[in-house]
Amino acid sequence: MADYVVTPWEVKGSIDYEKLIKDFGTKKIDDALLKKIEHVTGKLHYMLRRGIFFSHRDLDWILKEYEKGNPFALYTGRGPSGQVHLGHLMPWIFTKYLQDKFDVELYFQMTDDEKFLFGQVPTLEESNSLAYENALDVIAMGFDPDKTFIFTDTDYAKTLYPIAVKVAKLTTFSTAKAVFGFKNETNIGSIFYPAMQAAPCFLPSILKGKKTPVLIPAAIDQDPYWRITRDAAPKLGFYKNAAIHCKFLPGLGEGGKMSASQPNTAVFTTDPPKQAGKKIMRAFTGGAATVEEQKKNGGNPNVCSVYQYYRVLFEEDDSKLEERFNACKNGCILCGECKKELAKRVEKFLEKHQEKRERAKKQLDKFMVKD
Ligand code: TRP
Repeated sequence: MADYVVTPWEVKGSIDYEKLIKDFGTKKIDDALLKKIEHVTGKLHYMLRRGIFFSHRDLDWILKEYEKGNPFALYTGRGPSGQVHLGHLMPWIFTKYLQDKFDVELYFQMTDDEKFLFGQVPTLEESNSLAYENALDVIAMGFDPDKTFIFTDTDYAKTLYPIAVKVAKLTTFSTAKAVFGFKNETNIGSIFYPAMQAAPCFLPSILKGKKTPVLIPAAIDQDPYWRITRDAAPKLGFYKNAAIHCKFLPGLGEGGKMSASQPNTAVFTTDPPKQAGKKIMRAFTGGAATVEEQKKNGGNPNVCSVYQYYRVLFEEDDSKLEERFNACKNGCILCGECKKELAKRVEKFLEKHQEKRERAKKQLDKFMVKD
């Protein structure tokens, strides 16, 4: 038995990402593919250079079609179960980069139905209002208002439902059980729900009246959904959706991903910046037991949550990151100093993000689509 679990509902343990690629049947983003991406986009995004986006389905095909003059649409989403934290921003930052580079549309699904059905939020009204709260964070990322469409499942149901029904008819209960682990006790709304998450894969084709390739940037735990959609696609006359998968952002504690259920080890976009800084100052590091020992033997950046934050979100410059890595290993920088610098960067980021989030309130109508 593996000592980790990755499903759309549960992520825990120390994840073997290479093995996950095999188990899920996805493909590694290898050097050859990185070269192809670089050929099309120029210098690689740091999340590609550092293997944060590490796995894919049909990304090579997406690039080929794009070069042939057949552009793709982006699709990603969020389950509105609470406030957004930095772990959620990771794939959104990359999605924004893709939108900028390729100048393509983005369809952003807010699954108010999902979070109600699976019980993370007690009422549908609450998950619906959280969806609009969370949309502010999405807008604050700077997506192109003319090319970005955000919707909640319940407020865009008239358009999504007919697509979902067609996917649902092609998906048996035994497949859904095998892919998602549903049981007899599972409520029937949850069992139908994968068809709702499937719908946006085909939405651009429906809206444009033309088969449109779709690329989904998302964390790897969402991949089970794409198995269902890719099986259904050709039977419904659509292209199979492509996907590009990222790893999880670790929490500020020891091991495990950043999770809203552990608020002290997660930095929320709505945290007062100073309070977020305090969370960083209490983070788990790879430091030695004493200052003397650390100066002599160095720290271990590989297990350090603070170093991970620099690597994944707060230091884009590879040479500066390497410098920090070496300074830690050599005992030249101590954890207090390293944390203080990160805390400052996080506070600054939050101040700016919160300003943009405030401004986003006036832009909601421009971004949200309803029917
Ligand atoms: N199920 C996802 C969650 O719980 C939300 C979601 C819907 C999503 N569609 C998506 C995530 C597409 C990534 C890509 O957060």
